[in-house]
Amino acid sequence: MNSNHLQQIQTFEAYQTTYAKSCENPEAFWSEIAQSFLWKKTWNKVLNWDFKTAEITWFDGAALNITENCIDRHLANDSGKIAMIWEPNNPTEAARKISYGELASEVNLLSNVLTELGVLKGDRVCIYMPMIPEAAFAMLACARIGAIHSVVFAGFSAQALADRIIDAGCVAVLTADGMFRGEKKIELKKIVDEALLQTPSVQKCLVYQHRNFDINMEVGRDFDWCSLTANAATHFNAVSVDSEAPLFVLYTSGSTGKPKGILHTTAGYMVYAAYTFLNVFQYKPGDVFCCTADIGWITGHSYVLYGPLLNGGTTVLFEGIPNYPDAGRFWDLIDKHKVSIFYTAPTAIRSLELYGKAPFEGKNLSSLKVLGSVGEPINEDAWQWYFENVGKMNCPIVDTWWQTETGGIMISPLAGITPLKPAFATLPLPGIQLAIVDDKGNELYGNDVAGNLCIRYPWPGMARSIYGNHERFIQTYFSIYSGMYFTGDGCKRDEDGYIRITGRVDDVINVSGHRIGTGEVEDALNEKGFVVESAVVGYPHHIKGQGIWAFVICEQADIDYETLCNELRQHVSVSIGGFARPDVIQVVKGLPKTRSGKIMRRILRKIAEGETNAFGDITTLLDSSVVEQIIEGAQVFLRQKS
Ligand code: WT7
Repeated sequence: MNSNHLQQIQTFEAYQTTYAKSCENPEAFWSEIAQSFLWKKTWNKVLNWDFKTAEITWFDGAALNITENCIDRHLANDSGKIAMIWEPNNPTEAARKISYGELASEVNLLSNVLTELGVLKGDRVCIYMPMIPEAAFAMLACARIGAIHSVVFAGFSAQALADRIIDAGCVAVLTADGMFRGEKKIELKKIVDEALLQTPSVQKCLVYQHRNFDINMEVGRDFDWCSLTANAATHFNAVSVDSEAPLFVLYTSGSTGKPKGILHTTAGYMVYAAYTFLNVFQYKPGDVFCCTADIGWITGHSYVLYGPLLNGGTTVLFEGIPNYPDAGRFWDLIDKHKVSIFYTAPTAIRSLELYGKAPFEGKNLSSLKVLGSVGEPINEDAWQWYFENVGKMNCPIVDTWWQTETGGIMISPLAGITPLKPAFATLPLPGIQLAIVDDKGNELYGNDVAGNLCIRYPWPGMARSIYGNHERFIQTYFSIYSGMYFTGDGCKRDEDGYIRITGRVDDVINVSGHRIGTGEVEDALNEKGFVVESAVVGYPHHIKGQGIWAFVICEQADIDYETLCNELRQHVSVSIGGFARPDVIQVVKGLPKTRSGKIMRRILRKIAEGETNAFGDITTLLDSSVVEQIIEGAQVFLRQKS
């Protein structure tokens, strides 16, 4: 099949008619979009689905390789076009620009190397790397040989890395010696060495020397990246895979239990990432797109890598952080690379807001056309600040709501097309059929309603399973409200039919855009010998969106508070990663529990929000006096915050 251009919606009226069409006949709608890709074999059936068993297939019977769509198809006309711009952590170091032609060679070299190392179609490969082009090459090379990548964010600890490698049964790890994030030195290979002590499935480890750190190389297991690619061929025939062949696993946190390996498959994810990128951001040829997310998160997968490349775009990979070497770093980057579409998280915006206007001085941001926000609700203040100071009141802001599980953006304005309302994700994209339901599962029709956000119909980018645990996939997403996918988020639909996301309604918290299960932090705290029991909740934090508040019962009442805090925070860093360290640790004598022994987090959440009354019905509590004690103990922390 030939590849044509993907359809781009140009007006609000076109959005409305496209949306209506997509609901009337979803299969016709998506099949028309899918025509514009390169397939090795076409499909027999656009969609098969059953939300009871959570069995979903898109483009069944077709075969393809996503990297031919990301790379090869652009070579005929655009081989010299820049595919990727790398901006290093340290701005005095040279940026790198990689053309589509160079990208093809790099990915082919690595595909040959992985094949020589014995990685086969269907094998899982863990990628634990800095934000450097090699990380992108690694993901694409896996896809090219039909292996499944499992990228683990390079902020996770050795233990968290090992857990993820074991769960996915990875046969190889691709990593680097280390990196700097701001001024912080992170020795990735050392962390990998520690993780690999626990992971018998890993046969090979390929190491990219990025910063010339001293590293240990284990003979027979560890290989130097550049030595191997130097001798490899620059041609590699992309392996043909089925539409529903897994493309990647990406771990994310849930309400309970260990992180889940969210499984995405090839064709549907490709179509959805490409379509949403083109339409939400209104990408035009020549645009320079910069998404500041790390490739260790879904945003990095879909909008640093796949979405832009599938559209033949130029994508910026930024290795650094917003405030290094100073709070003007983003603005320098936009000026330097003439970024036209800039996509970042509210937490970054709020942290930069504190520095006022000075960091903008001398920075030319006139290349910007579109701004995006992702990862957490954006408050109105931050929205206005972003709009005025960064966009100079000329750039629409797309507040994009989606999840690791959804594969791509679900609810968002189309830039410059959908009328905006600050702090609203606005309207569903074509193909996305929402339902708002009350706690009993009754659908709330019409406008001016609030409830739990569900999706009632499949879309191509949706996750297909939890790696190795399909039953958990069904239970988590499809069994709470029968016949629907449940997102875990609450929302309201206002009088104009616009959607505002109000945040998670489960025990997942969002700290600086990092999704963390409160249960995971509790498990880590409880591992410490002196902790009898703990309960963790999120509380409103002016920069991070949410902070982590831990209530802990300790065995020795006499342990010095500072030591206790240090030990607990250190342990959480080791067990999960630094970003999951509790902000507040409150030692308590008891936790509010029901007679059946369930911790009433609802009460703890209210206390952490500063509530001293109005806890609703607490008559079912085993011992209501603990609530008084906890409220009293919380005051000192609440005072510190205000
Ligand atoms: C959760 C998903 C989507 C990629 C990054 C996060 C929250 C995400 C928004 C938004 C309000 C948002 C939700 C969602 N979230 N975007 N624009 N407005 N909330 O992916 O780590 O899977 O987290 O992030 O609570 O469920 P994730």
